[in-house]
Order: sequence, then C-alpha cells, then structure tokens
Amino acid sequence: MKEDTYTMRFARMSDSKRVYKIMEHMEQEIDDTSIFVADDKTFVKNHIEKEGFIAVAGHDKKIAAFLIVRFPEDSEDNLGLDLAFDEEQLNRVNHMESVIVIEAHRGNQLQQQLIEFAEPVAKAMGYTTAMATVSPDNPYSLNNFLDLGYEEMLRKTKYDDVERIILKKEL
Ligand SMILES: CC(C)(COP(=O)(O)OP(=O)(O)OC[C@H]1O[C@@H](n2cnc3c(N)ncnc32)[C@H](O)[C@@H]1OP(=O)(O)O)[C@@H](O)C(=O)NCCC(=O)NCCS
Repeated sequence: MKEDTYTMRFARMSDSKRVYKIMEHMEQEIDDTSIFVADDKTFVKNHIEKEGFIAVAGHDKKIAAFLIVRFPEDSEDNLGLDLAFDEEQLNRVNHMESVIVIEAHRGNQLQQQLIEFAEPVAKAMGYTTAMATVSPDNPYSLNNFLDLGYEEMLRKTKYDDVERIILKKEL
C-alpha cells in the first residue's frame, strides 16, 4: 500500500498498548535478534511519560509507524559511554531508540519522517546529540540514518551478543 496521508504526532498513554502490540508482532516476524530487539511494556509507557517521547505516524486512525526517542541521561545504556563522553556530553544525548514501520506502509520514508519530526523536539529540550544503533544486516534502517546525516562512530557487540553500528549526529 502506498499512501501519503500520514499525520506525525506524539503518542499518548492510550497508544501504549497498540505500540507494544506492534513491537511484539515485529519480534515474531523478525525471529532474529541480530536485527531487532523488542522493548517491554514498561519501557514503552516510560517513554510516553517521562524518559523521552514516542512519535507516531497515524494513518486512517491507526498507527502506521512509530519511533521511540529516549533520553538516557545517567543510565548505563547511554550510547555516549561507548564513545567515552564526559558527564556534560552524556546529558545531551538522545537515542533514536526503536523504529517500526508496519509492513503494509513500508516504502513511504516513514522512518525518515519520524526522525525528522523528533530531532527538533529533542534539540529544543536540550538533547542535542542524537545517537542510534543499527544492525549491519539492516540496510534499510542504516541507509535512512546515513541519508539524514548520521555518521558511523563505532562497530561493537551489544545487547547480549549482537553486532551493532553506533551512529551519531549533532542536532
Ligand atoms: C527499517 C524500517 C523502519 C524502514 O521502513 P521505511 O521507512 O518504510 O523504509 P523506506 O521508506 O526507506 O524504504 C525504502 C525501500 O526499502 C524497502 N524496504 C523498507 N524496509 C524493508 C524491509 N524490512 N524489507 C524489505 N524491503 C524494505 C521499501 O519497500 C522501499 O522500497 P521501494 O523504494 O522499492 O519502494 C522498516 O523496514 C522496519 O520497520 N523494519 C523492521 C523493524 C526494524 O528493523 N527497525 C529498525 C531497527 S530498530
């Protein structure tokens, strides 16, 4: 399906179940944690409420895609730690954490549109260093980040033994 009527908006608490369901479904579809690692329900709720935000692409009153943006601050998953950032730099990091476009809506550049929606919001909130991890086996996601000016900083084994490319962009 190729449609161009998508509405970019912030997720509300009432979207959390749906976002989580999409993630669960994706985990079944991609039965390969080397490409995609799902988050849990609490993680989704926390990111609507306090630890970041979730951007969604709405289509015909349904969610076609979403992006979880995380403000890791002093958490041990802060990707700035992999680049030996100091405390001030760590506090400015945001993660473009998890992005899923429902299969029927792929090919409409929704990943890029969601990231472009999220970047100025994160920047305005003081999180001016955008970071992400991508599997080297996921060219779709990797190319979308590179197209938007993200740069490869490091390749490393993360999340219980899967290879990841760490990307960064100053907003
Ligand atoms: C990565 C992802 C978000 C990209 O979706 P998207 O924004 O719709 O991708 P694009 O619009 O850039 O697609 C560009 C082309 O690649 C194709 N494509 C995108 N993702 C694809 C996939 N997973 N498998 C096969 N083809 C894919 C599109 O159909 C399109 O082809 P076209 O130019 O012939 O129309 C999407 O593939 C996805 O949700 N994957 C599963 C979850 C995931 O891997 N997330 C990233 C890590 S957290």
